Amino acid sequence: MSTILVTGGAGYIGTHTLISLLGAGYHPVVIDNFQNSKPEALSRVRQITGREVPVYAADVRDERTLARIFHEHPIDAVIHFAGLKAVGESVRMPVSYYDNNLISTLRLIQAMDQHGCRRLVFSSSATVYGDPARLPLTEDAPLSATNPYGRSKLIIEDMLRDLAIAARLGGDAAGTAWQIALLRYFNPVGAHPSGMIGEDPNGIPNNLFPYIQQVAVGRLKELQIFGADYPTTDGTGVRDYIHVMDLAEGHVEAVRFLLGGRGAAAPGGSFAEAINLGTGSGVSVLQAVRAFEAASGKQIPFRMAPRRPGDVAACFADAGKAARLLGWTARRKLADMCEDAWRWQSLNPLGFAQG
Ligand code: NAD
Ligand code: WQD
Repeated sequence: MSTILVTGGAGYIGTHTLISLLGAGYHPVVIDNFQNSKPEALSRVRQITGREVPVYAADVRDERTLARIFHEHPIDAVIHFAGLKAVGESVRMPVSYYDNNLISTLRLIQAMDQHGCRRLVFSSSATVYGDPARLPLTEDAPLSATNPYGRSKLIIEDMLRDLAIAARLGGDAAGTAWQIALLRYFNPVGAHPSGMIGEDPNGIPNNLFPYIQQVAVGRLKELQIFGADYPTTDGTGVRDYIHVMDLAEGHVEAVRFLLGGRGAAAPGGSFAEAINLGTGSGVSVLQAVRAFEAASGKQIPFRMAPRRPGDVAACFADAGKAARLLGWTARRKLADMCEDAWRWQSLNPLGFAQG
């Protein structure tokens, strides 16, 4: 079975994807510098699966480690999760964001090219759609960025599309076709049903679900709902929340697609396409709060607050392309997302910190 390098494999989406990859018979290898994660998360993956995964505690920008990994393992494809992802922080620290997200991707594709491994799954984001003009969002919608994080994703998408174009034109990558899936995630939430791994943000969470979870477990007092005057069903923001295990399975299907050479039917045998990973359904903040209360049996105190700068009213996917190309659709419901998130948070009130 194929060997898959997973950058950022100790993170939230990475750990869940490791479980799905192992379940599908792949051999994952992890590189993570633990900048936003803990080794304990990987121990939990080991406990859940009973399998050992080789781990390199290193930065993806470190060319020597990358060369060593490709030398020591027959890598067939790469899933590239590593990067920084906090929107607000990216506005305050743009250089760190461009340095980490762009340079790690450049070093990675250079190492892949040198070792003849040209199958890549990249973590993009629905943030590349900016403020949607039309919903649901199809992959051909206009792209824009409102912050350095989003811009880093857009730049990387363009860079990866250029790789495929060069191979088609017989340019500097002549004869070396790339097969690249640019997966645009909507809002990943929830946790593995074991409750042993889940999202464990540093400090006060920026995102809705981790915030609700920490209110439910008593770490935070109340939720602020950012904006009750949006043109949506109940005035609160609408998003496409997707269970992290559905997302993980989407990665397995993307890897299967690329390894199966199904992208090679594209012109010049090179493939670099964006694919939305979402459920296709919009859920408001109030609906999410009510669903979490029902799943947890806990009341979530909240108060209405002003809109958060940069937020859009509504954002949800047209998930048709993933179904057509990858044969993948999200199966889990909002209630599953809430139940699994609550199991993780209630069993691990302090995240991975308590060991
Ligand atoms: P995460 O922070 O939990 O995981 C990222 C992992 O990468 C962490 O373990 C971190 O330590 C590691 N890392 C960061 N920079 C590194 C580097 N230079 N070298 C080695 N390791 C490094 O984030 P996540 O939620 O699992 O997200 C994974 C990817 O998906 C990111 O690229 C993110 O931008 C993207 N994404 C996430 C979301 C979301 O809401 N979680 C939505 C859309 C896209
Ligand atoms: C969801 C809804 C908020 C917190 C972000 C990134 C995006 C992607 C996913 C990486 C909105 C409301 C939130 C709170 C609230 N990440 N909210 N009170 O903003 O859709 O997307 O994460 O690529 O790029 O921007 O997710 O969970 O922060 O917010 O009312 O304390 O919840 O206003 O309507 P968002 P989110």
